[in-house]
Amino acid sequence: MSTPSMTLFYNTASPFARKVLVMLHETGQFDQVALQQTLVTPVNPVPELNDANPAGKLPALRLADGSMIHDSRVILDYLDHQHAGTPLIPRDGAARWARLTLASLADALLDAALLIRYETFLRPAEKHWDLWLENQAEKIQRSLAYFEQHAAADLSAQFDVAAISVAAALGYLDFRQPNLNWRERYPQLAEWYAVVSQRPSMLSTQPPV
Ligand code: BEZ
Repeated sequence: MSTPSMTLFYNTASPFARKVLVMLHETGQFDQVALQQTLVTPVNPVPELNDANPAGKLPALRLADGSMIHDSRVILDYLDHQHAGTPLIPRDGAARWARLTLASLADALLDAALLIRYETFLRPAEKHWDLWLENQAEKIQRSLAYFEQHAAADLSAQFDVAAISVAAALGYLDFRQPNLNWRERYPQLAEWYAVVSQRPSMLSTQPPV
């Protein structure tokens, strides 16, 4: 086991941090990172983080030279350049843009799920905005439908940046919206997730119960 040379500022409930943790496992770099659990919400900034990371973005990775990189997309790209195995982000060609675009859609689904979480958990009940919540929920459904109709086979091809991002998104829906029943409407996605959620990288990074 090597001594960690990097520090990951993260939260165990964050699906964006989970993407990074899964990438660390999948690329054999988990031992190289010390984990620092950090609680940041839009109404609870952490001043220590803000010098090198003025927007307080999490996850953030402090590298061996002391510099800080964020957010999850940049960290995944960095980590993918640090290991010798098959790249999990295609380096060039059409595959690069196709896989990064799927990953971006998964991140957009997560953005919507987080906005719902913030609106329903952090915001006082009397200030909840139903139209806002409905539109975030529709964005989630449209994204799931796209994955089901256009990407289920592509996702099975490799557990790469696209697959990691979609898996983290589905895991977060199970965590924060357990009554969504997405498996009924999206059976191919459900079948794919049943397999990939059993990977050691996914099992060891589950959100807290
Ligand atoms: C959550 O509790 O759902 C959460 C916590 C940190 C980052 C993102 C989500």
